[in-house]
Amino acid sequence: MSTPDQKQNESLMEARKQRLLQQQQQIEQLRIRMGKIKHKIAVISGKGGVGKSTVTVNLAAAFAKKGYAVGVLDADIHGPSVPKLLGLTGQQVKTGPPGAFPVTGPLGMKVMSIDFFLPEDVPTIWRGPLKMGAIRQFLQEIVWGDLDILFIDLPPGTGDEPLTIAQFLPEMDGVVIVTMPNELSSTIVKKAITFALRLNMPILGVVENMSGFICPHCGQKTDIFPAGSGRKMAEEAGVAFLGSIPIDPKVGIDTDKGKPFVIEHADSAAAKAFAEVIEKVESHLKDREQKQTPKA
Ligand SMILES: Nc1ncnc2c1ncn2[C@@H]1O[C@H](COP(=O)(O)OP(=O)(O)OP(=O)(O)O)[C@@H](O)[C@H]1O
Ligand SMILES: [Mg+2]
Repeated sequence: MSTPDQKQNESLMEARKQRLLQQQQQIEQLRIRMGKIKHKIAVISGKGGVGKSTVTVNLAAAFAKKGYAVGVLDADIHGPSVPKLLGLTGQQVKTGPPGAFPVTGPLGMKVMSIDFFLPEDVPTIWRGPLKMGAIRQFLQEIVWGDLDILFIDLPPGTGDEPLTIAQFLPEMDGVVIVTMPNELSSTIVKKAITFALRLNMPILGVVENMSGFICPHCGQKTDIFPAGSGRKMAEEAGVAFLGSIPIDPKVGIDTDKGKPFVIEHADSAAAKAFAEVIEKVESHLKDREQKQTPKA
């Protein structure tokens, strides 16, 4: 017969065993779900408001337009903007026996955001562990299905959200770093480069957004901020420079309408400049696929 102490020990052991089993099942589910997605690319920047979300949804839309099966994960828990940028505000997540399904956006993009679970104007007042849990669930429990690329939009800074992505997606293709052409942004965005390097996240390259303004009337370019610091930063860090995007009023208009500018204004200055970024990211993905294909 067991003593009360032994019984307590046994039940503690049993609870621990169950927890470990549950963790193993979660890791396995994450492996299976993420194994169906060929490429994962996160968009980061130390700085806020530089255009990370704009770059994320336009990269996603450009690849979807090319015929890739694309997903977008909004990993910005406090300031989710992907639903608004893709005209999906107010959409509901559908669930079924295999789990919750992402919302289908323009060009068939599969989209997930904390915003789909919250009433409008309700903020997420969460500390680190809750945010990490939500991102883990987005990766592991959402039925993403087979995708070519999952683009992940991250909040500014080098905190819980990018750390969680680095932890759960060690196989990811890499990060796109977005900056603006001024010293203040450069100083902070450099930290994001160091962050990615320390966490062994490959860096696909740097995008300089809001790089000059091309006058729609005379076609002259005005450097509202002194352009070029993004390229300089990339050179100094020894990473690729993916391209610059000018300030374009059409981007702001499309943002408010929830339409990616690469689709809505494919002939705009921003879309033309963005083509270089898309091309470089695509060639990176193709290189990576070639390296992964076993030689006959
Ligand atoms: N090239 C551009 N031309 C004009 N407006 C732009 C451009 N890039 C971004 N914007 C505008 O700047 C604002 C901020 O962009 P966005 O939300 O993408 O930045 P963010 O870095 O994701 O911000 P946060 O740090 O809050 O997540 C948006 O209103 C967007 O429409
Ligand atoms: Mg954003």
